Amino acid sequence: MASRKIPKHIAIIMDGNGRWAKERGLARREGHRKGAESVRACVERCALLGVEFLTLYAFSSENWKRPKSEVAALMKLLEAFLKQKTPELMEQNVRLQAIGRITQLPASCQRVLHHSIERTSVNTGLTLILALSYGGREEIVDGVRSIVRTVQEGHIDPAMITPDVFSKHLYTRYYPDPDLLIRTSGEMRLSNFLLWQISYAELYITEKFWPDFREDDLEAAVNDYSRRQRRFGGL
Ligand code: FPP
Repeated sequence: MASRKIPKHIAIIMDGNGRWAKERGLARREGHRKGAESVRACVERCALLGVEFLTLYAFSSENWKRPKSEVAALMKLLEAFLKQKTPELMEQNVRLQAIGRITQLPASCQRVLHHSIERTSVNTGLTLILALSYGGREEIVDGVRSIVRTVQEGHIDPAMITPDVFSKHLYTRYYPDPDLLIRTSGEMRLSNFLLWQISYAELYITEKFWPDFREDDLEAAVNDYSRRQRRFGGL
């Protein structure tokens, strides 16, 4: 497509790993394993397209309620993914970042994550942001705590608090808001993801389960976005 509009920031709710596995009579962790391949495919394609930020909902604050064995499998998968893929991120000039209550992750996972963030910090291409132990409401609450502290310390008058000022107290303060939110597996929910930031994002929902969502599907979402007229409440 000639002058296609490429979103600066894409956010993805990666859903349907469990159902993908169930349909094949496999364990849920196999769905997650296959889902990690979709992560690799989407990161690579976003880097190629010139997308500047990609935020992936990898583990929500609610996901802790899953059986211990599934949580452990997801943490192991994340650790293995980071260990294995960091050299590829370096080759693709991808900078890794994370949002969420990261200190709740297992210590070994945090170590690998910080190492990968540190190593890729010199990269200047796509910023890949993993949302881990992340909840949108929790983020807003943490933001409120932070802004209340600045008020108590006398750095800001409450009358000066605007949406832009508040945004600077969120985990995402360094990134622009997502332009496009993709959700796989057909669910029409936000599931506590980036509640503040997606106010004006274009939504793209596909029936495909996340493990089946690959480069062509990302292209289809971008093409769909490219045809949308964004008015941000204006005319
Ligand atoms: C949703 O599927 C997916 C998750 C809870 C985790 C997402 C994790 C990955 C894609 C794998 C690894 C991630 C990285 C960054 C390497 P679900 O289990 O809720 O599926 P279901 O709704 O069909 O049960």
